[in-house]
Amino acid sequence: MPKVRLTGERATMLATLYGRALDARSPRPLLNDTMALDAVEQLDFDAAATGVRRGDHVTFALRGRHLDSWTREFLASHPAATVLHLGCGLDSRVYRVAPGPGVRWFDVDYPDVIDLRRQLYPPRDGYQMIASSVTDPAWLEDVPTGLPVLVVAEGLTMYLEEADGRALFRRIVDRFPHGQFIFDAFSTRGIKLQKINKIVRAAGATLRWGVDGCSDLESIAPGLRCASAVGALDIDGYDELGAGYRTLVRAARLLPFLRRMSVYYRLEF
Ligand SMILES: C[S@@+](CC[C@H](N)C(=O)[O-])C[C@H]1O[C@@H](n2cnc3c(N)ncnc32)[C@H](O)[C@@H]1O
Repeated sequence: MPKVRLTGERATMLATLYGRALDARSPRPLLNDTMALDAVEQLDFDAAATGVRRGDHVTFALRGRHLDSWTREFLASHPAATVLHLGCGLDSRVYRVAPGPGVRWFDVDYPDVIDLRRQLYPPRDGYQMIASSVTDPAWLEDVPTGLPVLVVAEGLTMYLEEADGRALFRRIVDRFPHGQFIFDAFSTRGIKLQKINKIVRAAGATLRWGVDGCSDLESIAPGLRCASAVGALDIDGYDELGAGYRTLVRAARLLPFLRRMSVYYRLEF
């Protein structure tokens, strides 16, 4: 059983993994990521120390489902494409989406996270793991360019320094003919309120890059255009939940700062 010794932003992927596993174990799963459940059973780590509690799994399951659906949409219209899944953690997205033979998919995370991934998940045609910080320019030089690119970054941007994140996006725009970035980002208010974010606090991580709308992102590179910006409380799926949860979400939507605290962006170039 691999013993997990991760701290800081690397440890936050245990919270998302555990959240998806709780969803898969629930009576009516929203994402049903059974690979997350298997991974949690194989790893030696303290699930209680992730800060995830009963009921929290909904957020992780719906976030995963939303970005899976944007991924599938892109791949349906670009059957020959490159996918850069940045800050992948132990997310099994490549197996859930099961891309076709024209897709080259790269999962990128820090070496100690990729080391765990390699112990848990099987190889797949067209699929590679890259052990590197996403902000190190070197890894991208080994990725073939030429095909349209889909960049997927779930729960990553907020952990990057703004200047590093912007430079990373710019490098990708410069190298590929066209493509999309799909990711979630925290508002600057969300970054300021990080002390009350129990997942971040439990991991001892620090949130850095705040994004306050499309214009913050479109200024990163010429030709970058915001196609969607959907608040995390406004994505599909909350209507499938029990009455108590639905009431809570409806109440939270009434507070504009909460409604825009975490936003899913889809950028095109
Ligand atoms: C909240 S977790 C999300 C993991 C995964 N996307 C998921 O949804 O389960 C954040 C992930 O980003 C990774 N990460 C943060 N900063 C990174 C960097 N500079 N380079 C590579 N990975 C990074 C962490 O190691 C961690 O796996």
